Amino acid sequence: MDSDRISEQERLVNVSQPDLLPRELLKRGDPLEWRIEAYLCEADWSMVEDRDQRPAALLGCLRIGAEEAEFVNAAVNEWNRQGVSRLLRLLTAACEQQHKQGVRRLVAYAGNWESELINVYQRAGFRIIAVEPDYYQDCWSQSVRHGEVLRADRLMLERLASQREKAEGDLLRSTEREQQDVDAAPIIRRIELRDSRGLLTMKKQLDRETTSMLFEPGERRMTEGDQLEQIRILLRSPNSLIWVAESHGEIVGYLEASGGKVRRNQHTVYVVIGILEKYTGYGLGRQLFEHLFEWASRRHILRAELTVQAPNQRAYRLYRSMGFKLEGILRGALVIEGEPVDLYQMGCDLRRIERIRVDK
Ligand SMILES: CC(C)(COP(=O)(O)OP(=O)(O)OC[C@H]1O[C@@H](n2cnc3c(N)ncnc32)[C@H](O)[C@@H]1OP(=O)(O)O)[C@@H](O)C(=O)NCCC(=O)NCCS
Repeated sequence: MDSDRISEQERLVNVSQPDLLPRELLKRGDPLEWRIEAYLCEADWSMVEDRDQRPAALLGCLRIGAEEAEFVNAAVNEWNRQGVSRLLRLLTAACEQQHKQGVRRLVAYAGNWESELINVYQRAGFRIIAVEPDYYQDCWSQSVRHGEVLRADRLMLERLASQREKAEGDLLRSTEREQQDVDAAPIIRRIELRDSRGLLTMKKQLDRETTSMLFEPGERRMTEGDQLEQIRILLRSPNSLIWVAESHGEIVGYLEASGGKVRRNQHTVYVVIGILEKYTGYGLGRQLFEHLFEWASRRHILRAELTVQAPNQRAYRLYRSMGFKLEGILRGALVIEGEPVDLYQMGCDLRRIERIRVDK
């Protein structure tokens, strides 16, 4: 349609340095500032630059699963006809790109008062699938109206891949699966929502296989729903993450980094790692830590800490070799099969990690 065309002087660009995006424009796309910080560097951004090369519209898309992505921020300088067509152009291009990469479900959120934005999503093929009443209630100090509408509820929108896009995606994935079968080594990747069952099953198996984890066999009460919720929260957190090792579609190991919850310790992560016995000794533990360190350096996380049972020399040696230092001994902190067991408290200064990693 002609009215959706952007003029010749404007450019659609992929953003390589999201931290330089104008905050004012980002805030127009998401009233929750803490959320912006959480996804800013993780999302893929595209924008329309006006003839003076100033950002006039922007769009952020965050991959939240192998087949799922979320539009986390969609903003325009002005909600006029030009703004609408700029955003629509961005959205259409991003949807196409995501579907090409195997994403089958795209989700987006909008406030109940954001009629222009909802309209753009709908024109791009999204439909409203849920309403979360009063979601934005705590955002404003008092009730805020937008015309007649009370700014309170959050709408969830969804766009599913069309049959043609689905077929293309299936072809791509079957080729990937064949490749995976050839290459039997587990892959390491970030946790996704679809992993809730696999992760919980693996944790329960670890509880049966080893006394090195915290729980006794059968003691873990977490349900699959609890695990799903935990992953969901984690994917939104700026300083927590889980990586999993996957072999033939099964989760065989994980490393969980839980970030500090208050300002004074938000630069730290507490680490838990576990690998199924069959897959130990092949370097997965080391690789999981490499992923943690790489992510932590981009997130300005300065310290990692963990505890390990004193008799667990395999884990202790791994941690030492990755740069962790013994910081204290918690005498008799656990009782395992009737015997008191000491816990080693270990910490790692991530700022020095490159230099000390070889120290065993
Ligand atoms: C501990 C654990 C995470 C190590 O992971 P892994 O994949 O087996 O270890 P890797 O193959 O990456 O080995 C890395 C380092 O660990 C140490 N290590 C591994 N296996 C070892 C063993 N059998 N004995 C002593 N050290 C060992 C070595 O320092 C090794 O480095 P190197 O190969 O350069 O010598 C894993 O074995 C595990 O999850 N075990 C069961 C649950 C557990 O103990 N969790 C930790 C709770 S704190």
